[in-house]
Amino acid sequence: MKVLVTGVTGQLGSALLKQLKNTDYEVKVTSRRKPENVNFEWVYCDFLTGEGLEEAVNDVDVVIHAATSPRKDSDIIDVSGFNKFLDTAQHIKHFIYPSIVGIEDIPMKYYRNKYQAEELLKNSSVPHTIVRATQFHSFVENLFLSKPLFKRYLVPGDIKIQSVDVNEFAAHLIQMINVGPQGKTEDCTGPEILTLREMAELKIKVNNESNKVVSLWFPGKLYRALLDGKNTNDLRKVGKVTFEEFLIAKQN
Ligand SMILES: NC(=O)c1ccc[n+]([C@@H]2O[C@H](COP(=O)([O-])OP(=O)(O)OC[C@H]3O[C@@H](n4cnc5c(N)ncnc54)[C@H](OP(=O)(O)O)[C@@H]3O)[C@@H](O)[C@H]2O)c1
Repeated sequence: MKVLVTGVTGQLGSALLKQLKNTDYEVKVTSRRKPENVNFEWVYCDFLTGEGLEEAVNDVDVVIHAATSPRKDSDIIDVSGFNKFLDTAQHIKHFIYPSIVGIEDIPMKYYRNKYQAEELLKNSSVPHTIVRATQFHSFVENLFLSKPLFKRYLVPGDIKIQSVDVNEFAAHLIQMINVGPQGKTEDCTGPEILTLREMAELKIKVNNESNKVVSLWFPGKLYRALLDGKNTNDLRKVGKVTFEEFLIAKQN
């Protein structure tokens, strides 16, 4: 069985790559930047221009699609470029699509694009599995807690987050290869729902920092949706690695 991983230089792609090295699958990978120290076949592929799409997908059975662009050209990379990719992937036996919990309830352009991509996949004839995850621990840390300003984490402290370890999500997606196409499946969620303030305080404790947390309030529907925890699923807590354990592991 030959498996293609797109977006192999990203957070999820790197975690998938690390774990696929220990399997018997024949693996092919794509990105624009060439990943370092990888013995798998690599194909340059750009979802913006369409370059390399066919070469990437022509001889594989399964795709795990981790390429994405939340900030720039998402309309193309995550929707129209993705649709073109699906056109070239009609022979694929199983297309595994990682998505995000709550995208229909959170007013963000990137999330609308992810939702559209889910719909494109659902309405295609390509056998597929859509697995939504909550935010990755590493993503939350990088986005909100990487740069204290004057020894202060200035964050929307009351928003709720149920972050999950990216390695657990990667393992779950790899497991889906053998399970086969499932359509839309259960969410892959973190083990606990915390406020961002609680997460910042955990970081301060674990790293023995002297920083403080300043909680900010924002107007608008996006902030409201995150306050309401639309990005979480309190009925499902499947991941085992907590945010605190993730922070501790980073120190070793
Ligand atoms: N981050 C989270 O917290 C989170 C949570 C739940 C689900 N997800 C989902 O998981 C998936 C992976 O997310 P991630 O956070 O790992 O993303 P990421 O770290 O931003 O990585 C994105 C990948 O896409 C590639 N890419 C970007 N633009 C491209 C283009 N024009 N053509 C081809 N490749 C391109 C990048 O590599 P190059 O720049 O080298 O091309 C990179 O390998 C996404 O579907 C995301 O929605 C993410």
